Amino acid sequence: MIEIMNANTELGKKDYYIDSSYSLTIDASDLFVLPAMIDPHVHFRNPGQADKETWSSASKAALFGGITTVFDMPNNIPSCTTKHRLMDKKRIIDEELSRNKIAFRYHLYFGVTAKNIHSISSVKDDIIGLKVFMGSSTGDLLIADDATLEKVFATAKKYNLIIAIHAEDEQYIREKKKLLRSSDPEVHSLIRDPTCALIALRKALYFACMYQTTLYVLHVSTPEEVEEILEAKKKHPRLYIEATPHHLFLNSTYYKKHHTKVVVNPPLRSPERQQRLLQYFTQGCIDALGTDHAPHSLEDKQKPYPNTAAGLPGVESALPLLLNAWNEGTISLKRIIDVTSRNICKIFSLPLQEDLVLIDPRKTKVVRKMYSKAGFSPYEGKKLTGWPVMTICRGVPFMT
Ligand code: DOR
Ligand code: ZN
Repeated sequence: MIEIMNANTELGKKDYYIDSSYSLTIDASDLFVLPAMIDPHVHFRNPGQADKETWSSASKAALFGGITTVFDMPNNIPSCTTKHRLMDKKRIIDEELSRNKIAFRYHLYFGVTAKNIHSISSVKDDIIGLKVFMGSSTGDLLIADDATLEKVFATAKKYNLIIAIHAEDEQYIREKKKLLRSSDPEVHSLIRDPTCALIALRKALYFACMYQTTLYVLHVSTPEEVEEILEAKKKHPRLYIEATPHHLFLNSTYYKKHHTKVVVNPPLRSPERQQRLLQYFTQGCIDALGTDHAPHSLEDKQKPYPNTAAGLPGVESALPLLLNAWNEGTISLKRIIDVTSRNICKIFSLPLQEDLVLIDPRKTKVVRKMYSKAGFSPYEGKKLTGWPVMTICRGVPFMT
């Protein structure tokens, strides 16, 4: 039993796990208590890539960042595209979390391709949604033709499943790659430019409206996409928008400092677009924050472009970035709670978050990697104010 009150209690040392039956009274007089974050978009890499991350390293990184629940993506090795692989993945995760005595919650996405649409019915009760890559990214998942895409939207509607879409147009990427051959990582933002995202998005919105499928648009990176979705929402309300911390707080000027290391799909946008996206976020037009935590080794991040691994870690720094923005007066606490838990529960029909995170709103700390195996974080060295001090999952406290 954990009782949070204004009593003076020694909280114990870092990385100290207390059994859920342990009775603990927490002095929260200078702290805020918020619902713990639900991160609807992570790549925790396993099965298949324990060198990049493990469920043990990733879940501790998430708990450190105030997150107790994640929705994990299917671009594993091999991709999570069959019932057998899905069940295997669950077994591997459960075994690892229980062996390491980590209290944590997760849901899994199922990867859809042209070859496995028939197996959706067999996994429909075991998944949080279907993941569709319209443009290729890390891994081998891809749906680049309209006929298959249409079939997926129709099938998702039939089984009342959410489609989470990676909206970048594969054909457009291939054409642009031919035109822009360069080892300068900045061309990444020119190849996968805002039009690339918009073309794919329009197609996805068209099918979502046609079949009335619930569509969750992952990592919306431009204000134009937000505008397009808000317009379509007038016809079909079950369209939802996710933004990532890196598209909200970083922009294409960061290539100068970090070079290939900030390569990510979709890419970083201009400062002007970043600012407009952030405005939409703080105004309440964006439904959810997903970190798109996608760890890679430093070696893979530093491979010369275009062979650089795309993706950035995010679970340890997302909440501090939001709380820092709150301290700067950019965003309200209500908005933070909406985009990190309340809206996500509504969209994905989950019970309201019962886990908690205790926040020290005035604590200033420099970001440094704690638990993730990612070889690089663009936020490392950044001074932020507002940090989780304890994350409580299923009654088990994790001290940060
Ligand atoms: O940059 C990205 N990295 N975008 C994705 O879509 C996938 C992710 C990863 O898994 O590395
Ligand atoms: Zn992703």
